[in-house]
Amino acid sequence: MPETNSSLIDTDLSDPRHFTDGPPFDVLAALRERDPVHLNPVGFAGEAFWSITRWDDINDCSRDSATFSSTGGSTIPGTAIFGDMQKLMMVSQDPPQHTQRRALLQKVFTPRVVADQAETIAAVINHLVDRVIADGRCDLVTDVTRPFPLLVIADMLGVPREDQAKLLGWSDAITSLQGAEDAAGALATAVEEMGEYLVGFIANRRSEPRDDLISRLIRTEVDGVSLNDMELLVSFAELMVAGNETTRSTLAGAIWLLIEHPDQLAELRANPDLAGDAAEEVLRYWTPNVYQARTVTRDVVVAGRELKQGERIAMWLCSANRDPARHDDPDRFDIHRQGTQHMSFGAGGRHHCLGAALARLELTIGLRVLLGRLEGLALDGPPVITPHTFLHALGSLPVRFTT
Ligand code: HEM
Repeated sequence: MPETNSSLIDTDLSDPRHFTDGPPFDVLAALRERDPVHLNPVGFAGEAFWSITRWDDINDCSRDSATFSSTGGSTIPGTAIFGDMQKLMMVSQDPPQHTQRRALLQKVFTPRVVADQAETIAAVINHLVDRVIADGRCDLVTDVTRPFPLLVIADMLGVPREDQAKLLGWSDAITSLQGAEDAAGALATAVEEMGEYLVGFIANRRSEPRDDLISRLIRTEVDGVSLNDMELLVSFAELMVAGNETTRSTLAGAIWLLIEHPDQLAELRANPDLAGDAAEEVLRYWTPNVYQARTVTRDVVVAGRELKQGERIAMWLCSANRDPARHDDPDRFDIHRQGTQHMSFGAGGRHHCLGAALARLELTIGLRVLLGRLEGLALDGPPVITPHTFLHALGSLPVRFTT
């Protein structure tokens, strides 16, 4: 029996079982229409929170960091991700700590530094394609897109090639996939092992600086203040982990969407200059980071609902990206949208994704290389979405191609 609109809006959005096909867009559409600031029932995760689903409300909350604080973390209960390290990350800070940490990171993570990565990015993705191209088939996630963003950022940070596989394993465990057996144990072990590794790595760069991001971060000061060892360690981990699952699933998701839209795939092959526009539309449509959470610091009214100090909100970025008040025909995938606006890198305000330019470059170059080298792309089995409330993650995308 089809679910009625009223039972849809009572769906517990902290329960990953409702995310087996990705974010439940039907639930979010019903919420936007009927109860755009909705108290999520106490369910799977054992704590209530407000679901905010309209573009305009999310925009207002995200920009008001005095009322909606990040210090309680960016995830709702039930999302095992980042572990204890989350509290120390910039994404979980408010001013003045956030302002200072962000200024320091921005001094080294500049647009120029990002633009200079184009060659490395192309070399990494081409190398990953080289390993599978003769087979005529691969799992695009496990073989190609999974290692791609981590290898790029590890290179930028100065991690030696021989250590990069270890970092990939730790980073995957830290964005541990909800529901996976023993995820919490694997996460704690990864945080500990990676911490030990980074202590040695940072000590080495303090005594023998090189031309890499971590050496520059060690030297950088804002108002006479620089990062201490713990802050360096956490910043390193944040840069490494933040763009990992998001970028890899977006690139694989882009290929899946294009296979399902063969006209747009053919057009993009014929005109690779459209890759940047295609990447923006994939970011909007896929929304790799499904929501961001905040904690209410004072009693406040949002869209007629009274929110109390201490309550939690989840701003559903994936819902804002499909809000018909903002986008024409929002459920249609169309790489021709002009000036696509989306909230995939954040809904505005001080926490806007620090790695957005790098992610855009990786997606654009990644698309150009994959479409340029893998002819006749087709699914070679069913794609597998990893049920996760926070990340729109693809676990597997079997494809075949001619070479
Ligand atoms: C498709 C890829 C990516 C997506 C969808 C994404 C998404 C996001 C979102 C939604 C936020 C905002 C958090 C908030 O509002 O609280 C964010 C913040 C952040 N992202 Fe990304 N990200 C991506 C790639 C990257 C990459 C490649 C890096 C770095 C190498 C990165 C580093 C960060 C950092 C450090 C923050 C925290 C910024 C702050 O709190 O000031 N991200 N990202």
